[in-house]
Amino acid sequence: MALIAGEDWGVTDIRLSIRRAVESDDAALLEIDQTSWDATSGFPSYQEAIRDSFFARSGPEAHLVAEYDGEVVGYLRLQDKYPFPEGDGVLTINGLAVAHAHRGIGVASTLLEAAAAEGKRRGARKISLHVHGTNTTARRLYERHGYVVEGIHPNEFLIEGTFIDAVDMAKML
Ligand SMILES: CC(C)(COP(=O)(O)OP(=O)(O)OC[C@H]1O[C@@H](n2cnc3c(N)ncnc32)[C@H](O)[C@@H]1OP(=O)(O)O)[C@@H](O)C(=O)NCCC(=O)NCCS
Repeated sequence: MALIAGEDWGVTDIRLSIRRAVESDDAALLEIDQTSWDATSGFPSYQEAIRDSFFARSGPEAHLVAEYDGEVVGYLRLQDKYPFPEGDGVLTINGLAVAHAHRGIGVASTLLEAAAAEGKRRGARKISLHVHGTNTTARRLYERHGYVVEGIHPNEFLIEGTFIDAVDMAKML
């Protein structure tokens, strides 16, 4: 597949591009958010809540958006982990989702590459995240991108009658 150099975030598939989110992405991202998560990856209570805005939680500035052939197909929410200066330089991925129809073609991988480049651009030294222990697809993806397990919280959440572990992962930039 043809590759081109992206302006800010390195190599980008010519059909796949990453950009910062804008207010007008709200509806497309809400649709992805409401259809992407399940009990293995997210929290059913959150998914079942009625929401009419994706950006009500955090604004466009916190999001990278993936477009495939001009269609919004995924997002990554990248934020400061700590609200105090001692934690400066640590970012956290507070959400990563790709529409079902566009999975397995490298959309999340490209978003993760973009997040790492964006973190470096901001002078960050580390990106952290939490993932459900049951989310083997995401854990494999993160490992492939250099994230390592920093800690496991056993039986942290009770989801649909089963206790699951919360896994902390992080990558040094
Ligand atoms: C986890 C998730 C974000 C992955 O998104 P994705 O865009 O399908 O991920 P990628 O395509 O980059 O990688 C997934 C697989 O496709 C493969 N792949 C990537 N590019 C490919 C290509 N061009 N051709 C074929 N396969 C490819 C990857 O090797 C990977 O396979 P592997 O995990 O067996 O090694 C997506 O499944 C999702 O939205 N899940 C629900 C939400 C979630 O779990 N988020 C993370 C919570 S912490």
